[in-house]
Amino acid sequence: MAHKIILDTDPGIDDAMAIFFAFQSPDIELLGLTTVYGNVPVTMAAQNALTLCELAGKNDIPVTKGVGMPWVGEESTYAHFVHGEHGFGHIKPEPPKGELDPRSSAQFIVDMARKYPGEITLVAIGPLGNLALALRLEPELPKLVKGVSIMGGAAFVPGNVTPVAEANIWNDAHAAEIVFAADWDLVMFGLDVTNDVPFAPTFVDVLAEKNPTLGGFVQESAQFYMDFYSQNREDRVCFFHDAFPIAHLRHPELFELTEGHVRVGTGTLDRGQTVVAPKGTTPSPLWNDANTIKVATKVDHSRLEKLFIDTYAL
Ligand code: RIB
Ligand code: CA
Repeated sequence: MAHKIILDTDPGIDDAMAIFFAFQSPDIELLGLTTVYGNVPVTMAAQNALTLCELAGKNDIPVTKGVGMPWVGEESTYAHFVHGEHGFGHIKPEPPKGELDPRSSAQFIVDMARKYPGEITLVAIGPLGNLALALRLEPELPKLVKGVSIMGGAAFVPGNVTPVAEANIWNDAHAAEIVFAADWDLVMFGLDVTNDVPFAPTFVDVLAEKNPTLGGFVQESAQFYMDFYSQNREDRVCFFHDAFPIAHLRHPELFELTEGHVRVGTGTLDRGQTVVAPKGTTPSPLWNDANTIKVATKVDHSRLEKLFIDTYAL
């Protein structure tokens, strides 16, 4: 049975790897790419999503442009230092030929949820402004989707933008608080698992060998990304954070999850901190009255890597 998903994304090199993984997955029905600012400005994210669809020959996949600003505060400074000037490392992509779907990302999410009630998993691999806005457009949205899987947060490990905050949540902490407080089934794939799986250069070389077009693009774009991640390290590595939620949809047995009450920091020091209290671990009503989510805490590294390689090889 195929998993119907909408992928909310800020492509982005690891987003590209995840998007191609979804395209290659026979048990994933990708209804659309809804873009958001984060790694790059939202206009670039939208054009990059069109580029990735065209590279993969998926010109029938709707691509929308979403929020370009955080719920509260200043415009982002983006992450070109991680993903490169155009979002794909040293690659300067040709302008895509395709057109965007005229709807906003939030409107597309609401329209699809109404069209396929209870069937869609929202997979968010960028900041959460589109999901927060969709909740405001359609307050019944949690009843209309099957669930939400996000790459973001850091429950029991340090952050990657501040000592306590991961980039997707830090980029739009108020939107994240809205999304985590909604009454839907949410699974968070944070740095607890994604930072635990460093990929060596040989991984992208194998992807390129198995799939010269898509794997070759990942291999080429990841060189800049590996330069960033390998600073202050002995070994050369990179982290493909965004494919984890999709891997879990397909093979949940590769992951261990824990459940807890979650709150998101929205202050100066705790901006974007995802504080998860497993049930029964705190007397505080600030957490015990908050929503519970599932958090991925462990993943089978070798089986995950094999899944990525085998899927690119299809
Ligand atoms: O912290 C990693 C996350 O931030 C990934 O989604 C990456 O693409 C960036 O958006
Ligand atoms: Ca991303």
